[in-house]
Amino acid sequence: MGKITVITGGTSGIGRGIAEKILAESAKADRIFVTYGHDEKKALSFQESLPEEKRFQVTLIKADMSSYEEMMVFVEELKKQTDHIDWLVSNAGISTYAKYEDYSFEEWTRIVNTNLSVPVFMVKELRSMMVEGGSVLFTGSYAGQQAYSSSLVYGVTKAAIHFLTRSLVKEFEPKGITVNAIAPGFIETPWHSARTQESYDRINRKIALHRFGTVEEVADMAYAVLSNGYMNGSVVDIHGGYDYF
Ligand SMILES: NC(=O)c1ccc[n+]([C@@H]2O[C@H](COP(=O)([O-])OP(=O)(O)OC[C@H]3O[C@@H](n4cnc5c(N)ncnc54)[C@H](OP(=O)(O)O)[C@@H]3O)[C@@H](O)[C@H]2O)c1
Repeated sequence: MGKITVITGGTSGIGRGIAEKILAESAKADRIFVTYGHDEKKALSFQESLPEEKRFQVTLIKADMSSYEEMMVFVEELKKQTDHIDWLVSNAGISTYAKYEDYSFEEWTRIVNTNLSVPVFMVKELRSMMVEGGSVLFTGSYAGQQAYSSSLVYGVTKAAIHFLTRSLVKEFEPKGITVNAIAPGFIETPWHSARTQESYDRINRKIALHRFGTVEEVADMAYAVLSNGYMNGSVVDIHGGYDYF
C-alpha cells in the first residue's frame, strides 16, 4: 500500500515546494493529491514541470477552499479516489494588505474562512481516513507568533492555526497521528510578487540573515516534520533570525 499525501494549495510557492520534496522522496506506489483554488495554468505547469516518472503519481484537484461547500465536494471526490491518507498538509492561505480601518466584514470572513474555518472542517472530515501513525501539518506563519504583520486578519488566523495545531493533538491521540505546524517568516514566493525593492530592503534589514527564505529551505523542514515520528503539537519557526535586533 503506497503512501497517500493530500496537500492544499500545492501548485505554487511553499505548497508546491513541499509537494516536490515529497515526490522526490517518494516510492513508485506513493500518490499525492494536490489542490489549487483558481489558477489552472499554474497547476498544469506544475504538473508538466515534474520528471515524467513522477507525473502519474500526482492528481490535481481544483477546489476553492474559501467555501465550505466546495471543500465538502473536494472531500467527496477524494473519498472516491482513495480509501486512506497518510499525510495531510493544510497549506492554502491568503492575505490582504488593506488597513484595519478599511476592513469590510465580507473580506474578513473570506480570509478567516480560507485560512482557518475551512481547514478546521476539512481536517475534521478527513480524520477518519487517516491511517495509524499518520501526520497532519499546517502552514502557519511567524506573523501568528509575533504581531509584526501589516495584515491584522492574517496574523489572527495564523495564531489561531498554531493554537488549533496544539488543540488537535488530543483529538488525534487515539490513532497516534501527529499534528504540527510550520511558522515561516518571509519566504520568496509569488505571494511577494508586488513587493518593491524598498520593501525588500526594509524587511531584510530586520532579518539576521538579511534575505528571504527559499521555498526549498521551508520544504526540507516541512518534510522533516512530516516524517518525524515523535514531533507532536509543535509549531516550528523558520525565519532566518527575524526581529532579533
Ligand atoms: N510566502 C511567505 O512569505 C509566507 C510566510 C509565512 C506563511 N506563508 C503561508 O504559506 C502558505 C502558502 O503561501 P505561498 O507564499 O506559497 O503563496 P502562493 O504562492 O500564493 O500559493 C498559494 C497557494 O494556495 C492556493 N490558494 C489560494 N487561495 C485558495 C483558495 N481559496 N482555495 C484553494 N486554494 C487556494 C493557491 O492556488 P490558486 O493560485 O490556484 O488559487 C496556491 O496554490 C499560505 O498559507 C501562507 O499564509 C507564506
